[in-house]
Amino acid sequence: MYTSVADQTTDELGGPLSVLVRQKRDHVKLSALLERLRGTSGEDQAGVLLDIYRLVFPHAFAEESVLWPVLRRVLPDGGELTLEVEREHQEVNELVKKLEGLEDGSPERADVLGRLMEVLDDDVRDEEDALFPRLQSRVSRRELQVLGVLWELVRRIAPTRAHPVVARRPPGNVVAALPLSVLDRGRDVVDSALLGAPDRVVPVLHRVSSTLARASHAVELLPIMRSGEDPSTRYIARKPPFPWGTAVVSAAGAGLAVAAAWRALRRAA
Ligand SMILES: [Fe+2]
Ligand SMILES: [Fe+2]
Repeated sequence: MYTSVADQTTDELGGPLSVLVRQKRDHVKLSALLERLRGTSGEDQAGVLLDIYRLVFPHAFAEESVLWPVLRRVLPDGGELTLEVEREHQEVNELVKKLEGLEDGSPERADVLGRLMEVLDDDVRDEEDALFPRLQSRVSRRELQVLGVLWELVRRIAPTRAHPVVARRPPGNVVAALPLSVLDRGRDVVDSALLGAPDRVVPVLHRVSSTLARASHAVELLPIMRSGEDPSTRYIARKPPFPWGTAVVSAAGAGLAVAAAWRALRRAA
């Protein structure tokens, strides 16, 4: 019988450096953000969602590239267990992508948001009640601390937006980390500036944000970014993939777009 991570003290979880303590801390933050999300609309909702994305996507990305490979190695049923949470992560990515195309206040948006909150809750429960107690039973306190440091390092440089096309497993997700992280973090700056920006810069910022979104979509469609995943977490693209050339040109365009946004913001300041 295993004890949920939620019911253990910091010391029982391996001390402050342990990956289990760091995970639990993020999960508590997530549940507070989901609470704030209920009943919001318009700019308030966009602001809370941005905070959720910045917390959830790097967190999950680091789980997939650092923690789940260890679980697959130390547990005989690690493959099945991690596939279950990879499917949850994939659904979160697809729901957020869908949300980006839905009108504020539409019934479909409310349904997608409701499902998103449900899957995020399920993911936390699966990890805290099943996966992490099993990991804890197979690795030492010292290893939990080393994993904590590694997970934190990857989390800090991981992408912050939904990327349903990218593989949920190495090597695809590891190769994708750096280029997508640069584009996503640029988009975070622009989208944060958009909330409450003066009217005259809003159209420019919108253009920059969508250029960055297109660039990251082009990058994630590169075949290498999709390598290594289980077929059940594969995203079925609704459009044909971009050619390689488009990806390179878009990534370069994204750099120029960030520079343009920066100049526009400085002029507005
Ligand atoms: Fe987690
Ligand atoms: Fe997760």
